[in-house]
Amino acid sequence: MSAKKITVVGAGHVGATCSQLLSQKELAKEVILVDIADGIPQGKGLDQWESAPIEGFDSRVSGANEYESSAGADIFIVTAGIARKPGMSRDDLLKTNANVIRSVSKEIARVAPDSIIIMVTNPLDVMAQVAMEASGFPRERVIGMAGVLDTARYRSFIALELDVSIEDIQALVLGGHGDTMVPLASYTSVSGIPLTQLLEQDRIDALVERTRKGGGEIVAYLKTGSAYYAPAAAAVQMAEAIVKDKRRILPCAAWLQGEYGFNDLFLGVPCMLGENGLERILEVELDADEQAALATSADHVKSTVEALKAIEAGG
Ligand code: NAI
Ligand code: 2OP
Repeated sequence: MSAKKITVVGAGHVGATCSQLLSQKELAKEVILVDIADGIPQGKGLDQWESAPIEGFDSRVSGANEYESSAGADIFIVTAGIARKPGMSRDDLLKTNANVIRSVSKEIARVAPDSIIIMVTNPLDVMAQVAMEASGFPRERVIGMAGVLDTARYRSFIALELDVSIEDIQALVLGGHGDTMVPLASYTSVSGIPLTQLLEQDRIDALVERTRKGGGEIVAYLKTGSAYYAPAAAAVQMAEAIVKDKRRILPCAAWLQGEYGFNDLFLGVPCMLGENGLERILEVELDADEQAALATSADHVKSTVEALKAIEAGG
């Protein structure tokens, strides 16, 4: 199974890595990179297409500055905007990226009104809301990528710590994307064995802390940008679940309507992804500390939405 057309908006680090993975996995007949930068999406798209004979894929990859070629696309992975630099918080990106996402989302709604948006641009939870409002799409068709990445980071650290295969580690990270994310130790296991039986609490706490700061750790190394290999892999895993109607349960940012006691905000929760996008949200039991941590995370997302409103009201 594959889609007819998947467009990646933003042909930068994350976007170009997404299109490469999408085509190598043949998740769509046509993979299109769209960016405002003259020549960049065309050049990267052509370069990736020229790798097709070597990698052996038939997804046609190309690039464009306009949206007409994306008419009727099934999925848009949106990575357009500016990335975090050292010393810059995700929230510093707020105003610039909100304007970018608003214009991109209107274009998406114009050329592909039935499509599904996977939002990647930061600050993630707020940009997902901007996209939902600007596109007019229902919540089923606007989903934010953060939890898959945060969970992958947590799982990768656990695998290193225990020196076991990554394949055996199951974990769940909820909440907003940022330092207030909520890795759930109680839902973390290694081949069904609770993590708490394999690691002392202080080691688990250290891994949780590293996961919370995982984005910043990469920024500190790269100095001129932020992570893109793992983020792109995460966005493409979500697209694959949708394209193949796999009904996978993945932690994603979804628009909550009463779930977990929250309303009218995007927050990372376990989601079933299938052909309709967000098929359903799963509500798992949380202990008092986890629920409190989720509430703190939700407060942070809400305050960022308010900050954006205040910036925009002030011109
Ligand atoms: P980048 O700077 O390499 O690429 C961004 C691209 O967006 C550039 O090529 C730029 O020309 C393009 N762009 C800017 N305005 C545009 C517009 N109006 N229309 C189309 N394209 C436009 O940045 P990178 O590293 O690819 O990151 C992209 C975004 O993804 C950032 O906001 C970053 O913070 C976010 N991100 C989010 C993650 C998550 O877990 N949700 C993980 C990693 C990155
Ligand atoms: C990350 O977590 C910057 O949000 C991005 O790597």
